Parts: sequence; C-alpha cells; structure tokens
Amino acid sequence: MAAPSFGEKSYWDTRFTKNPSPFDWLVPAGATSFLSAIQSSLSTITTSSSADSPRILHIGCGTSSLSFQLKNFVKDPKQIYNIDFSSIAIEAGESKDGSMNWKTLDLLSTKQILDFRKSVIFEGAEGGFGLIIDKSTADAIACAEDVDLQLPYVIAPAAEAVEAKSQVTAGVHPLAVLSLHMAYLTAPGAKWLLLSYSTSRCSFLTSQDRDDRIVKEDILEQGFTDPRLLWKVINEEALSAREETGEANRVVARPVVKHTLYTLERTAFQVIAR
Ligand SMILES: C[S@@+](CC[C@H](N)C(=O)[O-])C[C@H]1O[C@@H](n2cnc3c(N)ncnc32)[C@H](O)[C@@H]1O
Repeated sequence: MAAPSFGEKSYWDTRFTKNPSPFDWLVPAGATSFLSAIQSSLSTITTSSSADSPRILHIGCGTSSLSFQLKNFVKDPKQIYNIDFSSIAIEAGESKDGSMNWKTLDLLSTKQILDFRKSVIFEGAEGGFGLIIDKSTADAIACAEDVDLQLPYVIAPAAEAVEAKSQVTAGVHPLAVLSLHMAYLTAPGAKWLLLSYSTSRCSFLTSQDRDDRIVKEDILEQGFTDPRLLWKVINEEALSAREETGEANRVVARPVVKHTLYTLERTAFQVIAR
C-alpha cells in the first residue's frame, strides 16, 4: 500500500473534510514540556524591536488545539498567526476563534510567502516573527516533492552583489525551501521550535556528512542560499509522548514513544527579496 501523501494539500483537505474534529499530532496540545519550551523560547527573544510582544507564527496548525493554547502566552491574540495550506482547517479554526490571525498559505509557495511578508507590517528593519511553532509540519513537508524554483532565487542574501547569472529552473528539497522562507519571515535571534518524530529531521543543518546535505553544491552555485547559514540548532531534546498523556501508569506493555524537540535560532545572516 502506498504511504499517505503528507506533503500534498489534497491529502490534508480530504482528511480535514472527513474529520473536522480537533486532532493533535505527536503530543497533545496541553503537553506541559512542549508548552514550557514555548514559554522559555519566548523569554529569550530580546533582539526584535517588538521583544515584549513578539509575533508567533504557528505553521501547519491543522486542527490542533495548540492554536488556542497559544493565546495564554501573548498580551494580544493578534500576535498569533495560525497558518496552513488547507483552507478547511483554517476556516474551522477561524470560526471558533476569530481573535487571532488565520491564514491559508502554502509555506513552499514563493509568491504566497512574498505577499504574506508584505501583508504583515513589521516595525524596524530587523522586524519579523519572533517565534515559529512547528508541531510535525516539517515532518509533513519533508514528504513533499522537490520544489521547482527559478534560480538565482528571488529570496537571496542581502549582502551579496547582484551578479548577472543565467536563470535556470531547478528542483530544491522542500525542507531547504521551508527554512529559507522561514528565515525571510523572521528576525535575527528568532526561535523555531520544531517537534518531530524523527531523530534526524534537522541533520541537514548540523551534519558534516556530505550525504546529509539536502542542497547540493550545484544548486548553491546557481543561487540558492545554504540553510546552514540561516538556522543553528541550539537545543535538541527527547520528549516523551506517553508521559505527556499521563497514561504511563495505566498501560503496562506499551513501547515508550519519544519525539525530538529541536530549538533552532535564526542567525544574523540577512535575506531579502530581490
Ligand atoms: C502532521 S500535521 C500537523 C498538524 C498540527 N501541527 C498538529 O500538531 O496537530 C501537518 C500539517 O501541515 C500542513 N501542511 C503540510 N504541508 C504544508 C504546506 N506546504 N504549507 C502549509 N501547510 C502545510 C497540513 O495541512 C497539516 O495541517
């Protein structure tokens, strides 16, 4: 049997249409270790001009109840942007609580990301989202096909002289596209809390092994920014799914399920749209 197409919008639209009830991947929305990671990341955001009211970008929110929990961390619900490419999930969330921002957006679409950046007014040159919350969305996106992009890519290093390179179309790994798009939307020092079922989800940012590089040398040369310049993995911890649900004492012979919570920090390497 073919694996579900977690990277495809049609898969998620069908799933949310069949079952619009709240559903949380990996850990429940009230998981204390995940919520305290959010709290501690927010307390370290000091670089942004809006440090006392950082904006939170909740990517691939789906029908997770976490969207509503996030309100406990902000002064104003308008600091929260719940994003998903399934309009069914977004409309369901918005109809429950319109006090936050809800946006149907494909995180891999160049045009949608450029338009979104323009639509959110940030104060100061270093403005941007202070915190990205990603509960198993990078997992889904890692299953998507490579994204066909025009290189040199329109989102490019701010400091680089514009060279007259010839334009090519090339397929780029979806996680590399996601990390560049997230860099474009965030301020230096911003955090990306990424919860994954995989212990190697972020190896593309840390590994010295050439085989782990998701962006090959030719793609970099053709004008795509290396994700390793944009994000540093500053923490990696195992998070137990079973403990979180409080079921540890009730179920005897059940395997311990661990997920990995990565904290990524946005470097000072600036990217702009050319
Ligand atoms: C595994 S689910 C996680 C949902 C939610 N974060 C949770 O914890 O329950 C992945 C989510 O990512 C969304 N998604 C996948 N690819 C996307 C893309 N390219 N742009 C925006 N959302 C995407 C899906 O619609 C789905 O809601």
